[in-house]
Amino acid sequence: MGTKRTKIYEGKAKILYEGPTSDTVVHYFKDDATAFNAEKKATIAGKGVLNNRISSHIMTKLEGIGIPTHFLRSMNMREQLTRKVEIIPVEVVVRNIAAGSLCKRLGVKEGTYLAKPLVEFYYKDDALGDPLISEDHIITFGWADPYEMEEIVAMAWRINDYLNGMFMGLGLKLVDFKVEFGRLWGEYGELYILLADEISPDTCRLWDTETGEKLDKDRFRFDLGDLVEGYQEIAKRLGLIPEGGLMKEGEINEDVASQLEEIENELAKERKFKAVKTTKKPQKN
Ligand SMILES: Nc1ncnc2c1ncn2[C@@H]1O[C@H](COP(=O)(O)OP(=O)(O)O)[C@@H](O)[C@H]1O
Ligand SMILES: [Mg+2]
Repeated sequence: MGTKRTKIYEGKAKILYEGPTSDTVVHYFKDDATAFNAEKKATIAGKGVLNNRISSHIMTKLEGIGIPTHFLRSMNMREQLTRKVEIIPVEVVVRNIAAGSLCKRLGVKEGTYLAKPLVEFYYKDDALGDPLISEDHIITFGWADPYEMEEIVAMAWRINDYLNGMFMGLGLKLVDFKVEFGRLWGEYGELYILLADEISPDTCRLWDTETGEKLDKDRFRFDLGDLVEGYQEIAKRLGLIPEGGLMKEGEINEDVASQLEEIENELAKERKFKAVKTTKKPQKN
């Protein structure tokens, strides 16, 4: 179409562009990988395509069980259209099995099953290294209010329940995952909380049930093996790419990739949201 798009934000894994309407944004999934607060960096061919596909699939599945998400439709192999939301600056992490920073911080042995899913909050601030915070910090500093937190925690639990079952059926253990939520205001001042950002092997830990092999971003963090191979394995088990995979001699197989984008759009449907409360969007100046 030749229309020039306006870049809104460039993050570590994605670029956000203005969408066709003012209430939408385009997410472009980059091949860049970063870890340890961007201390470790690389470009990995195929990562963006796989994350775009996996995230849109998972978001669609979650919509199906009544979780309101920002996802609208897939646009092409690297891009998806979402509703624009006001991101709540809190990363919500749900853990089923101990791994990563939990082990480091508390000396828990990696692989320990937790007695119940553990919900943690991190303040979204790269300069501060996304510090661990409590719900009280969130309320005290006004990052979200108690009504919003109630909704967010309830959604985090439901997402965990659903994804646990889904991955278990595919021979994968969902060790932990990170989600972000955003605010959307309705016509009459209703406030909706939507699941936003992405759910992908960049934001989940997934271990093979049989072998314990790590198929997620820890492959990159700790040089455990080819990253895209792990992500492809997840996409294959989800039924999103053919057995032969997405890559051909280190490059994306365009024929396979171009078939990926239409599927989820057929599932796009009219969504009904449940308002958390009715309020006025605070005026910023
Ligand atoms: N629907 C949305 N509307 C507005 N912003 C969003 C939406 N979904 C995600 N974002 C934000 O866009 C950015 C995505 O880019 P990413 O590369 O993941 O950034 P980061 O480096 O901050 O993790 C994040 O800051 C995320 O909070
Ligand atoms: Mg991110």
